[in-house]
Amino acid sequence: MILICGGSGYIGSHMVAYFQDKGVPVAVIDNMATGHAASVHGAKLYVGDMRDTAFLDKIFTENPIQAVIHFAASSLVGESMTNPLKYFGNNVGGAVALLEVMLRHNVKKIVFSSTAATYGEPEHIPIPENATMSPGNPYGASKLMVEDILKWCDTCHGLKYSVLRYYNVAGAHPRAHIGEVHNPETHLIPIIAQVALGQRDKLTIYGDDYPTPDGTCIRDYIHVMDLVEAHDLALNSLDTAPSHVYNLGIGKGFSVKEVVETFEKVIDRTLPKEIGPRRAGDPAALVADSTAAMKGLAWQPKHTNLEEIIRSAWKWHSQNPHGYNS
Ligand code: UFG
Repeated sequence: MILICGGSGYIGSHMVAYFQDKGVPVAVIDNMATGHAASVHGAKLYVGDMRDTAFLDKIFTENPIQAVIHFAASSLVGESMTNPLKYFGNNVGGAVALLEVMLRHNVKKIVFSSTAATYGEPEHIPIPENATMSPGNPYGASKLMVEDILKWCDTCHGLKYSVLRYYNVAGAHPRAHIGEVHNPETHLIPIIAQVALGQRDKLTIYGDDYPTPDGTCIRDYIHVMDLVEAHDLALNSLDTAPSHVYNLGIGKGFSVKEVVETFEKVIDRTLPKEIGPRRAGDPAALVADSTAAMKGLAWQPKHTNLEEIIRSAWKWHSQNPHGYNS
């Protein structure tokens, strides 16, 4: 059985569905701060705090857990700048408690959700895993601290880890029974979907004076199903391969304007938009060099076309305009 921490959030719920489709037993932990019970579709769900070691001990005692995939975290860059201790408490404190209980129960395999935010403003694009690590916000810093803690757990206890640094995760399950829902929403593609659904007046593009071809920020959009498949491959690889750190992106960057234009093409109408000021802390361009993951995990992302990724997101949003309350 695989324990999925944060399994009722956007990415975690797609991991749960992926394993359910494969017939792999899972248990889910979530504090429901941002998760949705409806998104786990019958998986065993434990509601509680990752820092509560007694709660975690009970779960590891009740279930034959062989490995952990740890998605549970606070993940808003902006909020991390106004409330940094929440990020160090939840993200670092939660990981330390989880690792302590895993070692107590002799569970020594973990896949950890890290982020491109650990690099900060990159020196080169695409970004290789050995680039300078200089997070520009407490969210990225908290993830980098956990990466370091995992290294020491391997050295001192033989715990095997896969650290996966995500770029911009997008899209939804092909059945569109689960998808991306955040409240408040801050991510570009769901916000454009809200404009398309008439739930927002307009899209504000955060800055068009970046040093990029059209002046708007460039990001590497990876489909959530490709992302979760990489987690499965990463977990399996730990049976024979050493612990590792991999970027997960598709290695192609698209500007905010390109994302909006592609969305408009998918829905065949233009959307109200304006150029606003830059959002604090946004790097100009983040594009992954994911060749290490492709080689090391024999992973090949299937959805490398932006239009296809946006179609997948739009299917979920248009069929579930109010998310899990639709
Ligand atoms: N954007 C807009 N308008 C909006 C929302 C976003 O122009 O209303 C722009 C942002 O400025 C950015 C791009 O769209 O340039 C993508 O923004 P998202 O918020 O969708 O994603 P981020 O790149 O900010 O965030 C992602 C991950 C984070 C991670 C971060 C690293 O979602 O978890 O990359 O910088 F921390």
